[in-house]
Amino acid sequence: MKKRVLATREILPGKGLDRLSETADLVTWPGAEKPAPADLAALAPGASGVLALGNDPVDAALMDAAGPSLRVIALASMGFDNVDRAAAAERGIVVTHTPGVLAETTADLTFALILSARRRLGAASASLAEGSWELFRMHDYLGQDIHGATLGLIGYGQIGRAVARRAHGFGMRVLHHDPYAPDDDLSTSVDLPTLLTESDVVSLHVPLTEETRHLVSARELAVMKPTATLVSTSRGGVVDEEALLHAVREGRLHSAGLDVYEHEPMGRELSPLVAEPYVVTLPHIGSATEATRAAMVDLAVDNILDVLADGAARTPIPG
Ligand code: DGY
Repeated sequence: MKKRVLATREILPGKGLDRLSETADLVTWPGAEKPAPADLAALAPGASGVLALGNDPVDAALMDAAGPSLRVIALASMGFDNVDRAAAAERGIVVTHTPGVLAETTADLTFALILSARRRLGAASASLAEGSWELFRMHDYLGQDIHGATLGLIGYGQIGRAVARRAHGFGMRVLHHDPYAPDDDLSTSVDLPTLLTESDVVSLHVPLTEETRHLVSARELAVMKPTATLVSTSRGGVVDEEALLHAVREGRLHSAGLDVYEHEPMGRELSPLVAEPYVVTLPHIGSATEATRAAMVDLAVDNILDVLADGAARTPIPG
């Protein structure tokens, strides 16, 4: 008999869901929008697997709604702060995510943010759209160089390394701070104060956990160079947004490039950061290419199929 698997969206990139439906009794939340927890819980009873996104709350209530049949929760995302992993561990449920397949794409976007924020691309492009470019002026839209600058990576996993490789193409010096990653041929390991004070660009590549919440706050921003740029493509909660807003408004930090926020999505309740001229903001699109989003769904499906076939998950979240 086919095992029941719940997917939290009916429409996902690629062919992963089609493949899943060949092997499993696939139940999906109808539509591309995020379901309410009660709607998901109503679909969960008897599920052996759940395929969820990085913004679906996967808590004990959903696990209990599925019941003892639930063996695997597969996220089509790298981040996993939306899952109650302690509740999953108590119930013997394997939780997986999608490292690897999105590292290069997210590194590309990280670099796009570095370039946009330091060279003021958003404001410069908007001047054309507004019809306000009347004259070439030597002092208009002056930014900060990227080539020859020092890049500081907080978190040096797959995405951090992929950013470091790109940085070498720009002639940057690369530092990293990560208790699990020593020096390598791309980057030098330093302590956090050294990274913050020496870097021209600080880029965040850590998951959101209790240890990393507000890792970059007023104290850290205060020691960064006033010509520096802060970039985040990891999770919004890693940066204290209020402190960041003050730092850029008061000219204590040159610029910021953000793809992630403490409160997502923003809808019409826009963060004041969106209107800041030296802050580039994007709507959480780090892994948003057709190929990468399809690969994320594929890997989530593989994780479900492997666990339900009594095999080991390919990419369990490390304990
Ligand atoms: C990720 O993979 O973590 C992206 O942010 C999408 O959730």
